[in-house]
Amino acid sequence: MPSARDLGALHAEIRGCTRCADAGFIPRAFPVVEGRSTDRILIVGQAPGEIELTTGRPFSGRAGAELRRWLAEAGIEDPPYRTSITKCFPGKAATGPGDRRPSPPEIALCAPWLERELALMKPRVLVLVGSLAIERLWGKGPLGTIVGRIHREPGRVLIPLPHPSGASRWLNDPANQALLRRGLAHLRRESRRVHA
Ligand code: URA
Repeated sequence: MPSARDLGALHAEIRGCTRCADAGFIPRAFPVVEGRSTDRILIVGQAPGEIELTTGRPFSGRAGAELRRWLAEAGIEDPPYRTSITKCFPGKAATGPGDRRPSPPEIALCAPWLERELALMKPRVLVLVGSLAIERLWGKGPLGTIVGRIHREPGRVLIPLPHPSGASRWLNDPANQALLRRGLAHLRRESRRVHA
């Protein structure tokens, strides 16, 4: 477990980052991340949304409310560590609903932060929320072949979940809802294990 001071120092560095704004990918840098040094579960999303620009807290919008319902279903009432593949709001998608998916160069610019968070936190349970986080930390493939599974690595387990934003229709299919429920059952079991 890291010291609260080391985690605070890393968060201060992350919150001070302006790389993507400096490179012209986004108009304004406002990195968001939140978690305690004692968290054993770490949630990785895609990128903050517009609401997080005002709250400064990850998953505080509509997607966050749905994520909290999922966590509650897995027996987790207190939201654990929350971060994302890129830490600033990327803007709205040019077409269609939802936010713009961060580009590979933005992901590469932001990647050292997530690497440092993972190296410092050494989470026992890593929850990958949405296809971007799944691609980066699990591998590419259709959500339907990945959600519902669990991957055990030395010292940690990876649990992939769909994105709770509602922008994708993936969860409209009852078969995919069943995969989500299976993922949440894994999360409930693994969360109990790390808090036992
Ligand atoms: N809000 C966040 O902070 N992160 C996400 O990945 C999605 C919504």
